[in-house]
Amino acid sequence: MSVQTSDAAGAFRTAVVPAAGLGTRFLPTTKAVPKELLPVVDTPGIELVAAEAAEAGADRLLVVTSPGKEAVAEYFRRDEDLELTLAERGKGALLEKVKRAPELLDVATVYQYEPKGLGHAVAQAGPELADDEGAVAVLLPDDLVLPTGVLSRMAEVRAQFGGSVLCAIDVPREQISAYGVFDVTDTDADDVKQVHGMVEKPSADDAPSTFAAAGRYLLDRAIFDALDRITPGAGGELQLTDAVALLISEGHPVHVVVHDGGRHDLGNPGGYARAFVDFALQDPDYGDGLRDWLTERLKD
Ligand code: G1P
Repeated sequence: MSVQTSDAAGAFRTAVVPAAGLGTRFLPTTKAVPKELLPVVDTPGIELVAAEAAEAGADRLLVVTSPGKEAVAEYFRRDEDLELTLAERGKGALLEKVKRAPELLDVATVYQYEPKGLGHAVAQAGPELADDEGAVAVLLPDDLVLPTGVLSRMAEVRAQFGGSVLCAIDVPREQISAYGVFDVTDTDADDVKQVHGMVEKPSADDAPSTFAAAGRYLLDRAIFDALDRITPGAGGELQLTDAVALLISEGHPVHVVVHDGGRHDLGNPGGYARAFVDFALQDPDYGDGLRDWLTERLKD
């Protein structure tokens, strides 16, 4: 029996992080290191995403992985020998950094054995949900949505409207074909729009708006039934976008929270370099030195 959508305050407990991809844009590094473990200054991107999920109230991270990428989940395991060594050497600040990831939330893995797309990856999480979990968060680890907090706002919107709530960013039309794109109308709240349709990677001419999915989803568990019913879409893959569109066509309420802060795309070396520099500029140890060096370097 499906659980209805009225759980308290739009809350969720499980955050799903699809991390089964080959990381081809980061070859050759991803021969040995999953891209989710590449550091943003000194912290893997997946830890930043896990911290965001924990901050929004998740108590479990479900990492969708593929054979050979076990290091992603292992990263969240405590290393007591390392902690002891750091404590003995008086490295208190490093000790705190090392302890942070394992303490954020429980981490479990589920396998996606075939690369059949984002919808297929998310579908693998369905059987892992408890019967009383009415919704699940999905965070794409390629996307950093800054400052954090949009998931909490999305939970408020789900508490108000029910159904599913996604995060949107307004992107230039010439970039829109890289995204899932929403057909929207306004609501009474400036940052919330009602969604009437969603299409994956449309051409700029066909895009119903310039509001694009930004890698944060708060999905009613009805999504898993919809994921079972979709057929391959853009790129020949099972698309999460198509399952959301199917739900909309059946009357399921879907809204977006329009995020007007920053965003980084860690999924390609160019976006990753920007994120690294952005975080490093704010780092108390490296920021000033990097700013001085960049200023000089850019004079050339
Ligand atoms: C995925 C989603 C797309 C979304 C994008 C955000 O696409 O399919 O709807 O807009 O993430 O980053 P990908 O970037 O994996 O091609």
